Amino acid sequence: MPHTLTVTTAAFPLAPTGTLVIYAGDGAAPAGKGGEIWAATGLDWKKLSSAAGFSGRQGQVLDILAPSGLAADRLLVLGAGKPAEGDNPPANAWADRGGSLAGKLMGLRIAEAAVVLDSAEATPARVAELAAGVRLRHYRFDRYKSQKPKNGESSEPEALAVTLYVTDSKGSEAAIADRTAVVEGTLMARDLVNEPANVLGTEEFAAHAEALAPLGLEVEVLDEKQLRKLGLNALLSVAQGSARPPRLVVMHWNGGGKGTRPVAFVGKGVVFDSGGVSIKPAAGMEDMKGDMGGAAAVTGLMRTLAARKARINAVGVIGLVENMVSGTAMRPGDIVRAMSGTTIEINNTDAEGRLVLADALWYTQSRFKPRFMVDLATLTGAIGVALGQDHAGLFSNDEELAGRLLTAGLATGEKLWRMPMGPAYDKLIESRFADIKNSAGRQAGSITAAQFLARFVNDVPWAHLDIAGTAMGASSSEVNTSWAPGYGVALLDRLVRDNYEA
Ligand code: BES
Ligand code: MN
Ligand code: ZN
Repeated sequence: MPHTLTVTTAAFPLAPTGTLVIYAGDGAAPAGKGGEIWAATGLDWKKLSSAAGFSGRQGQVLDILAPSGLAADRLLVLGAGKPAEGDNPPANAWADRGGSLAGKLMGLRIAEAAVVLDSAEATPARVAELAAGVRLRHYRFDRYKSQKPKNGESSEPEALAVTLYVTDSKGSEAAIADRTAVVEGTLMARDLVNEPANVLGTEEFAAHAEALAPLGLEVEVLDEKQLRKLGLNALLSVAQGSARPPRLVVMHWNGGGKGTRPVAFVGKGVVFDSGGVSIKPAAGMEDMKGDMGGAAAVTGLMRTLAARKARINAVGVIGLVENMVSGTAMRPGDIVRAMSGTTIEINNTDAEGRLVLADALWYTQSRFKPRFMVDLATLTGAIGVALGQDHAGLFSNDEELAGRLLTAGLATGEKLWRMPMGPAYDKLIESRFADIKNSAGRQAGSITAAQFLARFVNDVPWAHLDIAGTAMGASSSEVNTSWAPGYGVALLDRLVRDNYEA
């Protein structure tokens, strides 16, 4: 990671030099330690804040250079009030506050700051959210920019060192360590999705998963020969047009009781999706380097569970393939027999994700008998048409699992919207020549894709998250300015943490 960020906590009282940051809420003067700091400057709060139009809303800033009465050479007063209407739910306000803070510091090219957080509201959990927001906002994917911005041109410094002054430093440090494990999973997912496909092929992705072993994850990588032997022919048919060999990676985290059935996460890992013979239009095809966003989220999640030593047994299964056009590529009309025995007519080679997941899901349920399976996939453009970027599509055969996922979505800001399923949609994937076909045409495209997957879950409690609209091309927020936001890691960590851990 080319940029470094440290967030540390320290106890009061301190008189730091450099940049000092205090908060003021809606229409209120700085209070507590911040109030004392303000008083030391001898400045008139009423006069100054009204002259600057500072009301204390989140995002507002008063920038006071060389304040007299303080050791600091710069004092920033940031708004601690309500964020703008329609922003993330209140649960995320503190992460947004941290993101906003980091954005301000980077915008002002401040590399080091001390932040005073002594209000009664600033509980360890909220301080940890704020610290998470700082880290998430600071992330940049710029390793291929050979021209690092020159002094004065750049709006962002290389490194950011933030010291948080809190009342409970022990508690805050523990909360930050726990929350950081989640952030690092999210950042890993961002890196994997942002990375171009010439650099991140199937084998390279598998190597990233294997590199997590030192955290205590057990990682298996199944190669083409093994997959053929097991009969994962639907997955193999996608890979057959590419020079890159397919891989199925199985990550195990054994933090729960011996012999306890695991929870399972399954990810679509199409390292590049050209569409195959049913080739995609040129415009925007470069985005299909991100067609492994589901696998990235699963890998980031497994990293998180290991890093925070989650008290659960979990498996992460990712199907890694590349969907290319060549003389060996699958053709429209081809019929393959999936691992489950179901025959599939491939009437559109661009509906490849469901072929990968069909075998990955069947493999996962038959080998692990999991308590539930959640799959994540950049599966259909249609989900973006329906829900845009603010919600991923949720499809499930289990009310309890679906409810828990919806709740986790609201708690993390990685929101979900439940979509319908049923026999009327299932009918649309019937094939003239085989048991089912992989594409059912334009109507209800995301739902028919989910119906296809449902044929391979064998009645295990299951949820499918269609993240095609949320895993890439994100619009900037307080906590993310990257193309890939790392969607799904925080959501599934929350699901596990709140419902399944011992
Ligand atoms: N990877 C795409 C879906 C996608 C589209 C993800 C845009 C992210 C952004 C998927 O493999 C695909 O091509 N789906 C087709 C399905 C159709 C052929 C039934 C689609 O959505 O058009
Ligand atoms: Mn496709
Ligand atoms: Zn795809």
